[in-house]
Amino acid sequence: MKRWPFKVTSSNGDPRIHVTHNGHPKVLSPQEVSAMVLRKLKQSAEARLGHAVTEAVITVPAYFTDSQKKATREAGEMAGLKVLRLLPEPTAAALAYGHGLKDNVTEKTVLIYDLGGGTFDVSIVTVSRGRFVVRGVGGNSHLGGTDIDQIILKHAAQVIPRAMRHDVTGNPSKMRRLLERCERAKRDLSTQSRCDIDTESIVPDELPLPLSRDELEELCRDLLRSTTDTVKSVLATAKVAAADISEVILVGGSTRMPVVERLLSEVFPGKPVCKTVNPDEAVAQGAALCALHLLQDKAPDVQELAPFLRRLDIQNVTPLSVGVECNEWVVRCHHPAEHGHPGAEGSEAMGRRSTTKPPPSFSVIPPTPVRNTPAAASAPMS
Ligand SMILES: Nc1ncnc2c1ncn2[C@@H]1O[C@H](COP(=O)(O)OP(=O)(O)OP(=O)(O)O)[C@@H](O)[C@H]1O
Ligand SMILES: [Mg+2]
Repeated sequence: MKRWPFKVTSSNGDPRIHVTHNGHPKVLSPQEVSAMVLRKLKQSAEARLGHAVTEAVITVPAYFTDSQKKATREAGEMAGLKVLRLLPEPTAAALAYGHGLKDNVTEKTVLIYDLGGGTFDVSIVTVSRGRFVVRGVGGNSHLGGTDIDQIILKHAAQVIPRAMRHDVTGNPSKMRRLLERCERAKRDLSTQSRCDIDTESIVPDELPLPLSRDELEELCRDLLRSTTDTVKSVLATAKVAAADISEVILVGGSTRMPVVERLLSEVFPGKPVCKTVNPDEAVAQGAALCALHLLQDKAPDVQELAPFLRRLDIQNVTPLSVGVECNEWVVRCHHPAEHGHPGAEGSEAMGRRSTTKPPPSFSVIPPTPVRNTPAAASAPMS
């Protein structure tokens, strides 16, 4: 939050974002900001299709908590959309992948690695003839390409005073400009081995700051290693061996960094990385397929998709434990993370309350009366 160029305050525990719009101060909830983005997307879709768009499937990171999902639904409604479903993004990417499979492919277990701008998601999905069973999910809803940009920025801000005898760290507008140039350099280094971070109008001498791909990879080694550690732990939790993964599907702009594929090849030696799925479009394609499935009667003529849509069956897992707060900071866990959605089976266990992570350990206890308090973390069928 420290890095954001806007102020965030609390209103009864809910965040409020302070911005200036047309010279006037404005205070917005995150839902209102998200609704603006969704409204813009709705308008673009309407302009392209030539008719009103009133319903939507919205994708969310697989590792979103219940309150993050609830806020997303609210944002959709504020934007004038009936939210048909919130679909986890890696599951959506798996739909796009499964749709592209030939009919004679019976079953494949794939791992979806989605590293975008601000979130990281991993899912293991077994795809068999229109049936998508999510076997495990993991990730970090605060990790992505913007963190890599910050690492490059920090490096540049340290090197500039040494190389050009000019300190920019105290100047927010120069730092913002430098951040943009760092992001551009990062993209360049996905296709070339060296580049220059442009310092024009940032330092008096305007000397370019060289950066090599090797240096960039060294700078973000720990960050990227943490993503492959997550991959390994999702495999372990889902009890799927790396050798049983047929293909690794890369989604999200940050997977264009060549080092990502290299690190994954260490976890999955000899496994192909899927090249048939477009990393930028797979999630949206999967959401469109899901929407068509849900609206089959109302959908436009989609003859060629009909067999796929008829068979479509998506089974997600809860990324976080589901529980009920029963007394001071104690949560009764009804449904541990990484299981199918609640309703299929039930277990009762105790853990400390956590809104961001599954409780660290569980022990089975006999049922006891529960005080009438709200669910601490739940993952409704979305
Ligand atoms: N060629 C590239 N090389 C490295 N990084 C890239 C490249 N192209 C885009 N990116 C990075 O990808 C990120 C955006 O990816 P993407 O569009 O998948 O994110 P998003 O879906 O908007 O975000 P999220 O999934 O985190 O909510 C940005 O950080 C951007 O800098
Ligand atoms: Mg994304």
